[in-house]
Amino acid sequence: GASMRRRLLEAHRVAAEYFVEQLSSPEAQIARDFLRDRGFDREAAEHFGCGYAPQGWSHLTDHLRRKGFTEPELKASGLVSEGQRGVYDRFRGRLVWPIREVTGDVIGFGARRLHEDDQGPKYLNTPETQIYKKSHVLYGLDLAKGAIRSERATVVVEGYTDVMACHLAGITNAVATCGTAFGEDHVKVVRRLMGDTGQTQLKVGSTGAKVIFTFDGDEAGQNAALKSFALDQQFLAQTFVAVDPEGMDPCDIRQRDGDDAVRRLMERRMPLFEFVIRASLAAHDLETPEGRIAALRTAAPIVGQIRDRALRPEYARRLAGWLGMEPADVLRTVSRAG
Ligand code: GTP
Ligand code: MN
Ligand code: MN
Ligand code: MN
Ligand code: MN
Repeated sequence: GASMRRRLLEAHRVAAEYFVEQLSSPEAQIARDFLRDRGFDREAAEHFGCGYAPQGWSHLTDHLRRKGFTEPELKASGLVSEGQRGVYDRFRGRLVWPIREVTGDVIGFGARRLHEDDQGPKYLNTPETQIYKKSHVLYGLDLAKGAIRSERATVVVEGYTDVMACHLAGITNAVATCGTAFGEDHVKVVRRLMGDTGQTQLKVGSTGAKVIFTFDGDEAGQNAALKSFALDQQFLAQTFVAVDPEGMDPCDIRQRDGDDAVRRLMERRMPLFEFVIRASLAAHDLETPEGRIAALRTAAPIVGQIRDRALRPEYARRLAGWLGMEPADVLRTVSRAG
């Protein structure tokens, strides 16, 4: 009930404070090095509340017990794992990011592996709890909400370090999902903030809310982009994709080329359907007539799905240009497919 919820929020407040303290310990040198190597100074780490979960099995668990948290509260918090001999620290030897609600309350953590001998996954997140629902959670939302409201635009990146890099580069409307794909519930969360009530029809050049996705160029990133195309059908926002041609993520870009390069990435965004069409063309050999016809057959239905009907002929013309075909032929295929 409500009082358990309050206790879990309190446990997270205590845990976040504990992890921040631990980031100054000698053992946490590896975490401080990671942050420094990624281009994050002390001030940046503080701004985002980065911390360190020490190695060992019960540092945080003992700390929480000393602060009066009970066994059922520990178990319900997701901060511990349950073994045969009781509970133990879930996050061990990792760099941690506090995941906060839009209100600023910490509701969970994301944690990155640092030690060579760690057999666990690269990233570990809080499991589902009474206060942490991964289908809704967006990392950075507490810091991004003002910019999202005022700009009526949301930048969705893949990871914690990418959110940090974007904010430090001045893109303060950036958020990330936490170990899950951007889904319908995330759409609702950002739509509400952008004042997109779903009442208005999408129009070309309208002042409607925008969502800009960035993905790194790997297959997982590409698949995420294609999945969000399905979601776009219920988005009454203009949806864009900003992908680095070399496949670097915003954190990599800022580390190598600085803040300006991150901003340039965002300026080079393209409409999501253009990205999806280009991705489908890339799967075919456009040097041969057979390849071009096959590409047309996969790309035409995508153009046919563009919700704004006024945009379809425009994209049919562009598709014709990319394929070296007559616009009229492409349009015919599109209307048959649509
Ligand atoms: P870094 O080396 O930390 O920069 O990672 P990366 O840029 O290669 O991260 P990647 O693009 O693989 O992942 C981005 C985001 O996906 C992370 O911030 C996590 O939220 C999530 N993620 C990546 N790997 C894992 C994993 O092993 N488990 C889970 N649950 N989430 C992951
Ligand atoms: Mn990736
Ligand atoms: Mn990677
Ligand atoms: Mn990445
Ligand atoms: Mn990265």
